[in-house]
Amino acid sequence: MKKRIFDILVSAKDYISGQSLAEQLGVSRQAVWKEIKALRDSGFEISSVTNKGYRLVSMPSCLNGLAVSRYLDTAVIGKTLIVLDSVSSTNDYLKLLGTEGCENGTVVTAREQTKGKGRLGRSWASQKDENLAFSILLRPSISPREISSITPLAGLAVCRALRDFTGLDLKIKWPNDIILGKKKMVGILTEMAAEFDAVEYVITGIGVNVDQTTFPEEIAYKATSLLLETGRHYDKNRLLAGLLTRIEDTFTRSGLELTAEIISEYKKLCATIGRSVTFKKGTRNISGVAVDIDEQGALKVMLSDGSLRTVNAGEVTVQGIY
Ligand code: BTN
Repeated sequence: MKKRIFDILVSAKDYISGQSLAEQLGVSRQAVWKEIKALRDSGFEISSVTNKGYRLVSMPSCLNGLAVSRYLDTAVIGKTLIVLDSVSSTNDYLKLLGTEGCENGTVVTAREQTKGKGRLGRSWASQKDENLAFSILLRPSISPREISSITPLAGLAVCRALRDFTGLDLKIKWPNDIILGKKKMVGILTEMAAEFDAVEYVITGIGVNVDQTTFPEEIAYKATSLLLETGRHYDKNRLLAGLLTRIEDTFTRSGLELTAEIISEYKKLCATIGRSVTFKKGTRNISGVAVDIDEQGALKVMLSDGSLRTVNAGEVTVQGIY
């Protein structure tokens, strides 16, 4: 019922009486009042004036499912949206739901992660209400080999959406960090559950630094946030809805394939190309110049002897970035 009251309040041009709300919902005025109180408790500002009724004044500034749904323009992703106050990791939480059979496109987000996970076994700092941490579960009918397209597609979508939102000259550090200059703004971690040659589900977890002004010491030199770079507090509900909408659009448009058009868009935004890079092969560090992204999304690196190496995964240090 909360959602229905919310929908009526959002579309109402003016105050709407408790009586009219009760009639539209087929409940008592007392029940309406209870739901209005619950909405207020979760951060919605609703003014009430005697003889006029209720009017929605503002949405909560912290993550809220109703507020996200107000801005969401998707057919599948985020139609089931779970907003938690606190969770160990949205990826881990969604994995449990995935195993229990939750539907394609389910999204989990949380105001705080206590054990956020980064790539390569690292941790991801997510203090309460400071960043946007969310995970999307997909059940695509593709083979485990083809799953490598999802991360670059998500990276491209997030980079473009945040560029539009903020006007910042954000770029992609291969494979999927979103950076501004030398500093990281977004991290993406994709995990999957597969059996034999079939993917059961894929989870793409995305962490966007939104309101942080400080970072843990070990990453402080290479991390930044939207607040630090723009001086603005972005509305996390609007941001999340915008990102999900753009991700769905990119996934649908590409059919989850790294088409020539997608690779070309990716390359235009990829800060790694043309720079000196170092990557690990076993225990050896190998250096060269990043020259291209191939049709699988792998990085092509030219070594000093002119030979080309393909880097599929792992950490690549980019000179002048990190
Ligand atoms: C990285 O750059 O190392 C990847 C960071 C991924 C962080 C996100 S936040 C939401 C989701 N839940 C997690 O535990 N990790 C991802």
